[in-house]
Amino acid sequence: MTVGCCQGIETMIQVLSSPKSNILLSSLVYPLYHSYAIHDQLEIRKYELLPDQDWEIDLQGVEAIADENTIAIVICNPHNPCGNVYTYHHLKKVAEMARKLGIMVISDEVFKETIYGKNPFVPMGTFSSIVPVVTLGSISKGWLVPGWRIGWIAMNDPNNVFKTTGVVESIKDLLNISPDPSTILQFALPNILEKTKKDYFEKKNLTLSQNVDMTFDALKEIPCLVCPKKPESCTSLVAKLDLSLLEDIRDDVDFCMKLAREENLVLLPGEVFGMNNWVRISIGVERSMIEDAFVRLKGFFTRHVKSQTT
Ligand SMILES: Cc1ncc(COP(=O)(O)O)c(C=O)c1O
Repeated sequence: MTVGCCQGIETMIQVLSSPKSNILLSSLVYPLYHSYAIHDQLEIRKYELLPDQDWEIDLQGVEAIADENTIAIVICNPHNPCGNVYTYHHLKKVAEMARKLGIMVISDEVFKETIYGKNPFVPMGTFSSIVPVVTLGSISKGWLVPGWRIGWIAMNDPNNVFKTTGVVESIKDLLNISPDPSTILQFALPNILEKTKKDYFEKKNLTLSQNVDMTFDALKEIPCLVCPKKPESCTSLVAKLDLSLLEDIRDDVDFCMKLAREENLVLLPGEVFGMNNWVRISIGVERSMIEDAFVRLKGFFTRHVKSQTT
């Protein structure tokens, strides 16, 4: 058990760091992976996600950047912030590719209870007979309790690769000298996982799905923000910023800073996730807030649009 999924990320990066190793992270990644890898001097190699192919992993690109010092590939499924859910077929290909490269898969599944699209969630552990998989999870997102700080590192390893290579021992050693989640929550966790009623998730995910529909439609009125794929999961939507339509905006950070200053509206610049000139819009809020946000966005766009494009 870990103190939220964050401690799972910290632990795995620390365990895998060694002077020559490198790790494969997607270009759009939850920034903590990046921060810990930099902190622990683990070389980062970035692979691309393909926005026009349901944000699938560019498998050829992965093979091109991996070498004999590559230790693991990190995937995020459901993907924050893109909101896609990988198919069985794609995940199997990821497993086969990782096997070919001789690397493990670390699968961040922290959003697995936050799915409202048509693709069913397939745990990466399903493919553990092909490749050893470490699954990271927590209750922060599914149960909307980020402050409770309890999560886990799960080994999917029928061939005992993690045991024989010392990975399990290293994780245990590290967790032994780190703080634990609160004992009350450790005791409560089995009940939380096993006894939460299905309709709790259904209700929450229905609201998110309605918010996503509304946001996706409202974006059509803001031509400088283009969302390539309606999210099927998670609590945000990413949109590409078309700077050619705007008069005096340099990049995503400039866009977000001016929007905050002029309209009191905060969107997250893609730079934070490693993708310049994209923005992330949060949909995990009340409907009225989304409506209000789009009134402000429209006002901002109208003021900054190039005159010949109006
Ligand atoms: C993809 C991803 N992984 C991990 C985390 C961290 O989860 P926790 O709050 O359980 O530490 C987050 C939080 O936003 C996340 O988006």
